[in-house]
Amino acid sequence: EPAIPSLKDTFRKDFGIGTALNVAQIEERDPKTTKFIAQQFNMATPENVMKSALLHPKWDTYTFEMGDKLTDFGKKHNIKINGHTLIWHSQLPAFVRGIHSQDSIRTFFTDHIKTVAGHYRGKVFSWDVVNEALNEDGTLRKSVFLQHLGENYITDAFRLAQEASPGTELYYNDYNNEQPAKRAGCIAIIKKIKDAGVRIDGVGIQGHWHVGRVPLKDIEESINQYAALGLKVMFTELDLEVLPRNFQGADVGQRMTANATSNPYPNALPDSVQHQLAADYEALFKLFLKHKNNVSRVTFWGVNDGDSWLNNWPIRGRTSYPLLFDRNDKPKPAFYKVVALAK
Ligand code: G3I
Repeated sequence: EPAIPSLKDTFRKDFGIGTALNVAQIEERDPKTTKFIAQQFNMATPENVMKSALLHPKWDTYTFEMGDKLTDFGKKHNIKINGHTLIWHSQLPAFVRGIHSQDSIRTFFTDHIKTVAGHYRGKVFSWDVVNEALNEDGTLRKSVFLQHLGENYITDAFRLAQEASPGTELYYNDYNNEQPAKRAGCIAIIKKIKDAGVRIDGVGIQGHWHVGRVPLKDIEESINQYAALGLKVMFTELDLEVLPRNFQGADVGQRMTANATSNPYPNALPDSVQHQLAADYEALFKLFLKHKNNVSRVTFWGVNDGDSWLNNWPIRGRTSYPLLFDRNDKPKPAFYKVVALAK
């Protein structure tokens, strides 16, 4: 079999190439998977294990073992780790739901950032310091942090992260922040952080888009606007959903929602959709290359289709095909379109 080209080598002069990463991928699978990951990617973002619910189960208990496995793996294979994520309204530890005073939320917030960023100082390249703080209209999401700490919590999070881990790049990360209203809210956050004299190095546009509906114009405008603020722009969780919007339910045997239809592609993606997926990825990478001076990293949200969260969302048991590699790590047509763009 001919060797598969390496994405990281293909784009080495342009930008970093990352993947979401889980412990199971590097420990429980065939050693071929490990080799494959190291061959294709030079950056990785822990998909779940550095979220607060997993790292910080009780007030004074931190469980760093899983995250440490990923930072050790990164060190061994020259893969830079982007910590994900310090402050997020979702996947919070259960004990936080029992906190109702401003002082206690402040204590949790401060201790969490100091302890986690401190532990991974020198071990992660960067942090998604704050994740998904915005509503679609650009206002701030009514999270437990906003409600108890007020809108300065975002700047405070960056300040604390900078103090605990000075050499680490610090990012704000969100989805749909290429859309005009949400982008305006994102720019307001960035300006506020900078005006306070606090460092922010980059902005992550997650990139959970849909095949045939990738908002290229908004993406390009966003690269320009964020770069004009002096920030690195990253595409941090890229995947393209291929299942139709009205398909909610599982493929077989699971509870179907009222408006569910069955999966039109339970076993394989038809050529027409495969072709559209390839065209969309090609157009995206053309744009990234055009702006390679400002786009520093492109991270896929999973190594192969079998890893993708989209197989389990909105409910479990779907079969989706959103990435460049199929369930056997075999490159799809989209992969070859993307690789062919490199100079
Ligand atoms: O590991 C447990 C397992 O032990 C348990 O039996 C099972 C039953 O629910 O759950 C498993 O945990 C799941 C975990 O993924 C690992 O598979 C959680 O339920 C599930 O909620 C979790 O989903 C993650 C999701 O974030 C949580 O919000 C996805 O893997 C992850 O891809 C997704 O990633 C987010 C980014 O962090 C932020 N941006 C959006 C993106 C997609 O939603």
